[in-house]
Amino acid sequence: ALRRIPHPPRRVPLLGDVLGVDRHRPLQDSMRFARELGPVFRRRVFGNEFVFLWGSRLVADLSDESRFAKHVGLGVANLRPVAGDGLFTAYNHESNWQLAHDVLAPGFSREAMAGYHGMMLAVAARLTGHWDRELAAGRPVDVPGDMTKLTLETIARTGFGHDFGSFERDRPHPFVRAMVGTLTYAQRLNSVPVPLAPLLLRGPARRNAADIAHLNRTVDGLVAARRRSGGGDGDLLDRMLATAHPETGERLSAENVRKQVITFLVAGHETTSGALSFALYYLARHPEVAARARAEVDRVWGDTAEPGYDQVAKLRYVRRVLDESLRLWPTAPAYAREAKQDTVLAGEHPMRRGAWALVLLPMLHRDREVWGEDAERFDPDRFEAGAVRARPPHTFKPFGTGARACIGRQFALHEATLVLGLLLRRYDLRPEPGYRLRVTERLTVMPEGLRLRLERRPAPA
Ligand code: HEM
Repeated sequence: ALRRIPHPPRRVPLLGDVLGVDRHRPLQDSMRFARELGPVFRRRVFGNEFVFLWGSRLVADLSDESRFAKHVGLGVANLRPVAGDGLFTAYNHESNWQLAHDVLAPGFSREAMAGYHGMMLAVAARLTGHWDRELAAGRPVDVPGDMTKLTLETIARTGFGHDFGSFERDRPHPFVRAMVGTLTYAQRLNSVPVPLAPLLLRGPARRNAADIAHLNRTVDGLVAARRRSGGGDGDLLDRMLATAHPETGERLSAENVRKQVITFLVAGHETTSGALSFALYYLARHPEVAARARAEVDRVWGDTAEPGYDQVAKLRYVRRVLDESLRLWPTAPAYAREAKQDTVLAGEHPMRRGAWALVLLPMLHRDREVWGEDAERFDPDRFEAGAVRARPPHTFKPFGTGARACIGRQFALHEATLVLGLLLRRYDLRPEPGYRLRVTERLTVMPEGLRLRLERRPAPA
């Protein structure tokens, strides 16, 4: 079945398809191969053959939940030592997945989200306070660094009643350094032959063990503090610690709680930070888009000092800016799907039960058959309601698909739309002269070294 799938023409014995690749940017390498080889292709990395696909017809078929499911492989599997059977890294058959999913899902209901809104505003005020000071000092702002502070504080406070004090620090919080370390390590594991990993990565493996220990210590401290205090305000941590499954009465074990807290602290901020950073990049690059978005914010929010929960979803155009940024740079750029039974993908590619493939989202989102000849162009109008209705289903998948799709989608969209609205209203954003977009990878993607110069707009009356 594999033989009909193209691969790069020049293969190196033993090593595989490694010519001209950049070990630190496996996603962007795959995007290059995708452009050369078409909607489905394979890459050999040492002894292993991986199938990548992105053609919209193929991805649509892979989305059929009756024949396919999430596959825990490659980068995600490499995170098992950190996140174990937490929601993101759990195997489909692990009973803790359903248990945690059912216990935690109400934490993402509309009601729960409305409850987080005030805390999100408070964290955003820390960001604008910091940006006002940078502006006054005539300094450009560090976009990915500051978006990471913002999103980490937001998930920590709303989910766990915890304050990392990110904005009071010059350098990233040690939790963030440890997290970036483990994500980078998990990505690197894919680029060395498995049997040689202990040898080639001895130093990095030791640092990774230290990073994991740091993450565990942070989380254990946070959980211990909550147990001592006897409960918070019904946030995610309270659910993890105290809520029994509505039908079985089962609760999460202490070990599983630790994995869930790490999972949510990491999954709950890293990708949202990237999404906000790319959106700010595009806004600074496209003043006409920024002007339209700003006009919408002024119109919808008027001069209310603090927008209410319901006023965020009304920012339709700002939301399209975000969607369009996630189209070009989906910050969790790939996910894997496996066949639940022997089947034929899209009537063309036979797959055995358990066979799996990686969906390459940035390429799915640039498929010219769906998005047109100008698919590489940034244009939020692609997400106008009429245009969305006219597109086939399963062509825009930044939050994954099916039962294992992102549980935090609404959370991320609310937070990011709110913050973009606040920033657009307060500042004009100017790109640094000469900046060219460079994308760094650590399983997730992030615009590297993006800094913006700000100008203050008149405050709302
Ligand atoms: C799963 C993307 C924000 C928590 C996923 C998946 C994707 C994704 C693609 C599926 C992965 C797979 O199939 O292997 C994103 C993006 C985000 C975002 C692009 C921001 C723009 C969040 C937030 C949270 C979160 C804010 C938590 C507050 C999770 C969890 C899972 C998940 C727990 C695993 C769900 C399960 O398997 O049951 N996310 N996510 N994510 N995400 Fe997100």
